[in-house]
Amino acid sequence: MSRHHARKAKSRQWWQKHQRDPFVKQAKKDGYRSRASYKLLDIQQKFQIINKNDVVVDLGCAPGGWAEVAREWTGENGLIIGVDKTPVKPLQGITTLVADISDPLFIEKISNLLQGQTVNCVISDIAPDTIGHAKVDRIRMANAIEDVWNAIQLLLGDNGNFTLKIRDGAVEDPIRLAMKSQTQSLKPFKPKASQSSSSELYLVGLGFQKPSP
Ligand SMILES: C[S@@+](CC[C@H](N)C(=O)[O-])C[C@H]1O[C@@H](n2cnc3c(N)ncnc32)[C@H](O)[C@@H]1O
Repeated sequence: MSRHHARKAKSRQWWQKHQRDPFVKQAKKDGYRSRASYKLLDIQQKFQIINKNDVVVDLGCAPGGWAEVAREWTGENGLIIGVDKTPVKPLQGITTLVADISDPLFIEKISNLLQGQTVNCVISDIAPDTIGHAKVDRIRMANAIEDVWNAIQLLLGDNGNFTLKIRDGAVEDPIRLAMKSQTQSLKPFKPKASQSSSSELYLVGLGFQKPSP
């Protein structure tokens, strides 16, 4: 089989699997923009990271499934700011920002939207593009985790909560140690909607404390 046909067969297989996926079907039924919504729902049900009236920053929010779930938990008096490097179709009650979180100007851009409000929760489902080369993909994931952790440290207020997507072996030791020392509790969690064949999992940090200056 030629490379072209092999690629076509692979994407057809992916599409058939996607169509059969119970979380895809459920998302259509419940009106969520993505099956990823059920990952955040699972995290929220176990750890209660989002509270009523919270200010939530959603990193890597497109197409918006997590933001929709976050909105249900904050209620209409909360504030959700969704950030993605690709534009997001407007979502009712959600402020969106097109930005790359590795951009040095990102914190300034989001601070303009926050206008001094304390962030209570940061959620991140950021996954960098992969190229299928294990070492390169691991480095990309490690860099993304570092960017997310930097954003958490700069944006999240004391006693806030966070969750971020990681992959096994992609969290560098100094970052894991810093996360541990700056939270009351730090736990890995694999939501039911996360494919068992995928090495992705989520770290959930509760009771964050900013580092002393
Ligand atoms: C798995 S999707 C998020 C799905 C989302 N949680 C939902 O429920 O709809 C990951 C997103 O991360 C975004 N992303 C990856 N790297 C990024 C970066 N450096 N800055 C901003 N967004 C990024 C991608 O564009 C993509 O939309």
